[in-house]
Amino acid sequence: MNSTLAFIFIGVAVLFILGMKFLSSPKTARNGNLIAALGMLIAFFATLPLLHFAPHHAKLNVILMVAGIVVGLILGAIGAYSVKMTAMPQMVAAFNGLGGGAAALVASLEFLRGAQTGSIAVIETLPMLFAMLIGSLSFSGSIIAFLKLEGKFEKPYTFPGINILNGLILLTMLGLAGYLIFGQASNSTAFIVMFALALIFGVAMVMPIGGADMPVVISLLNSFTGLAVAGDGFVIHNLSMIVAGTLVGSSGTLLTLLMCRAMNRPITNVLFGAFGSGSGGGEASAEGVTGTVKPIQADEAALLLSYAQRVVIVPGYGMAVAQAQHQVRELSDELGKHGVEVQFAIHPVAGRMPGHMNVLLAEANVPYDQLQEMDAINPSMDRVGVCLVIGANDVVNPAAREQKSSPIYGMPIIEADRAKIVIVMKRSMATGFAGIQNHLFYRDNTRMLFGDAKASLNALIAAVKAS
Ligand code: TAP
Repeated sequence: MNSTLAFIFIGVAVLFILGMKFLSSPKTARNGNLIAALGMLIAFFATLPLLHFAPHHAKLNVILMVAGIVVGLILGAIGAYSVKMTAMPQMVAAFNGLGGGAAALVASLEFLRGAQTGSIAVIETLPMLFAMLIGSLSFSGSIIAFLKLEGKFEKPYTFPGINILNGLILLTMLGLAGYLIFGQASNSTAFIVMFALALIFGVAMVMPIGGADMPVVISLLNSFTGLAVAGDGFVIHNLSMIVAGTLVGSSGTLLTLLMCRAMNRPITNVLFGAFGSGSGGGEASAEGVTGTVKPIQADEAALLLSYAQRVVIVPGYGMAVAQAQHQVRELSDELGKHGVEVQFAIHPVAGRMPGHMNVLLAEANVPYDQLQEMDAINPSMDRVGVCLVIGANDVVNPAAREQKSSPIYGMPIIEADRAKIVIVMKRSMATGFAGIQNHLFYRDNTRMLFGDAKASLNALIAAVKAS
């Protein structure tokens, strides 16, 4: 690589890092995305002079490359424009799987080409095997994660001894890797067996994990794909792949750990614990619950809201399903006109992906200074007149604080139950993603406003305007 290209790749690395930095605040996130995309575009064009095709294959290779780019651009654009916000985790899983698969193929082709000519140095075998192993298990694992989020598998598929079987597959792969590195470095049969085992390992690793944990698993697989791409960067001597892959690997790992911390569960419990067998939504059994459900109508709820001094809105997955973020903003504006102080309490794992609520509220132009993080708002929750819970369930479940036997015990929650009045908007008494009942709905200070969040919000807005 000449020094001009090396400088360009360093510039690209700076753009990637700046992009990540800008992504850390909703105000600058859009620009962050554009900066990182610009970096990727420059990296793409800077890589072109590095391509060396054998003369008799050059034309075909260029045609295949351009065809691949056109198909990828079309599919990517259609996917990005048409995907619903609620299906975003599936899209991330699909894109991540393709990235992992591509990284595995690059490493595999380099290995098989080297094996043919017998020209692989032992030092090159290590990143090739690393990228192939991690990339292919990320590919097959992401496909299973995608199918689980699409609701194709009702329950975690597990059986006694699955961890032993997975351990044996892992040991076999490591044994083969040792054989390839320290022994017959150009044995393509051993390499292909490893590839197949890595694909099986990806499936076996994700199948036993419950649907509720898929966003965490996707984030973990995303970091694997990043590391596989970084491995490829070493194989084909591409600096921007090393930087981009390492950034994805490290940020994916941090995100995985932050999500686990927000749910108060160690990563080992997510990977081997089979928590949350489905997508939730079952009717809650009233067993062990004291108190009664007290429904409320929109007119009465609007009066309570209009005459409150301070209202805290807790959005959750149901707001995303109902696509009610614009109505939420309108209600907040109307209450503001009545002199009510309105804030939004954001739980780190509300919804189905990190930042889900922030993105939706930003789309509806809710001012950032109205958004409060869980830790900032909880100390003042008992000074809240009305807490309006819109399609949130698990993230306001007091069982996380009070019931030691609950699967979510210890998970930090927004303490909505401490407000003077709680109004919960949802369609039924169905459970949330964790599949457990919520004692908040039966508390003396709670009223249930049943119905689709968007329809209920429209009724609330009309009633607040009329009050
Ligand atoms: P959930 O606990 O999943 O509850 C969402 C509620 O929304 C449901 O109870 C549902 O009740 C209601 N709903 C659905 N559609 C609605 C509509 N159209 N109108 C009104 N309500 C509607 O949501 P949450 O409180 O946001 O919690 C998120 C869950 O996902 C947590 O368990 C969290 O651990 C898990 N999770 C999140 C992440 C990330 S990163 N966000 C990652 C891993 C796991 P009805 O059916 O009765 O309407």
